[in-house]
Amino acid sequence: MAAGRISVGLLGCGTVGGGVLRLIAQNAARIEARVGAAVEISRILVRESQASRGPYCDASRLTTRAAEVVDDPGIDVVVEVMGGQAAHELILRALERGKSVVTANKLLIASEGCALLAAAHRHGVDLAFEGAVGGGIPIVRTLRDAFASDAVTAVTGIVNGTSNYVLTRMVDAGLSLEAAVAEAQALGYAEADPSMDVDGHDAAHKLQILALLAFGAFVPPGSVHVEGIAAIEPIDHRMSARFGHRIKHLVVGRDHGDALELRVHPTLVPERSVLANVSGVLNGVVVTGRALGPCLVTGQGAGAMPTAVSVVSDLMDVARAKVAKVPGFGTRGLVLASRPIVPMAELSTRYYLRFVVADEPGVVAAIAGELAKERVSIEQMVQEARPAHEGGGATIVMLTHRAREASVQAALSAIGREVYMRAPPRLFRIEDV
Ligand code: NAP
Ligand code: HSE
Repeated sequence: MAAGRISVGLLGCGTVGGGVLRLIAQNAARIEARVGAAVEISRILVRESQASRGPYCDASRLTTRAAEVVDDPGIDVVVEVMGGQAAHELILRALERGKSVVTANKLLIASEGCALLAAAHRHGVDLAFEGAVGGGIPIVRTLRDAFASDAVTAVTGIVNGTSNYVLTRMVDAGLSLEAAVAEAQALGYAEADPSMDVDGHDAAHKLQILALLAFGAFVPPGSVHVEGIAAIEPIDHRMSARFGHRIKHLVVGRDHGDALELRVHPTLVPERSVLANVSGVLNGVVVTGRALGPCLVTGQGAGAMPTAVSVVSDLMDVARAKVAKVPGFGTRGLVLASRPIVPMAELSTRYYLRFVVADEPGVVAAIAGELAKERVSIEQMVQEARPAHEGGGATIVMLTHRAREASVQAALSAIGREVYMRAPPRLFRIEDV
């Protein structure tokens, strides 16, 4: 480290990287005062060095050679905002060369977080990843630091800004899924591959990271139940509203002591609940501590400047540690263990069930009978006629009392085979958060 100066290598200069450059340029004096040294971006890795990157990017610092960033002994800290699995080897190399790393790469922290944290410990440096969950909201710090003295029993929230934005635009402006996703892409919220947002996998990666911080759990990739937002139809929003609920794309993590409940799916939440009112690109996570009880963290969950706030604050933390000669301190104490995951079949919750049926005598009784066979009890029900241009018949929506997932799925399989059914049954879960 040169006297009075922290030299930073930036991997990636897209939406988030551009925000990082702008924030550092705009707040240079404040950052220097807080860190105790000037923070300077010395090298910037991109794929296309000739592309124009706006007023905050010094083109002379651009490179397409990763080694000029991660192998340069003059660089103290590496900030990775390029995304994808390609960043794995570069982060590992930077850690091995004694550089602390800041990353916003949820895919990588979800899949390789354990190994990368171990590498950071081994080399006495920090690995910071606030930008990987919740964009600009301080959820990583909240779990790691603010809840350090408490036992977290649950984390429930909205952690994908794109899908929340898309749901909000579909409900408020009547947009199609495709049109709303295009808006989210234009605003810089979506992943390079937006299907990661829409199909729920980005949220699942974030839930894996939340479980790491909240429950000290290493959750192997693929072990979280994931459903995206594509199956939600306009009628589901309308029907949910009739029952006093809104549909949100939630991550749910609960520590049952012997096992963890981890799931990601569209969920009905009461319209008076805090998460029902987290709209647009906002994220919101309710962390429940055994001693503290519930605590809501909310704010902008995606986009250049909100994410840059998280990334640059992490950069300031690791830079300060370097100046104080205590690198690696902030990352210590994360003890991870494998934990069993509760199978979805054993889940017990309430359900919203939608059936498109022939409008004939005995259909409601037949559906209720199949549910009764599986000991699934109906709490409320609405039936409405379907217009002829949609094929006619009727839509029946039922809310159930608490029931076992395996029982509800068995009843739906049986109902789905009946001749009166005009479309496969739909199921959404209900949470009282
Ligand atoms: P982006 O706009 O696509 O930018 C990616 C940048 O990385 C580009 O500058 C690209 O170079 C560079 N890059 C990608 N692969 C590269 C490679 N193999 N070699 C060299 N350079 C490479 O992505 P982003 O939205 O900023 O997201 C970056 C990371 O932050 C991802 O991990 C994402 O999940 C995460 N994140 C994003 C947000 C958000 O709101 N966008 C929020 C939180 C976290 P070129 O410009 O030359 O193509
Ligand atoms: N694509 C992500 C989202 C970016 O929409 O939430 C923030 O992680």
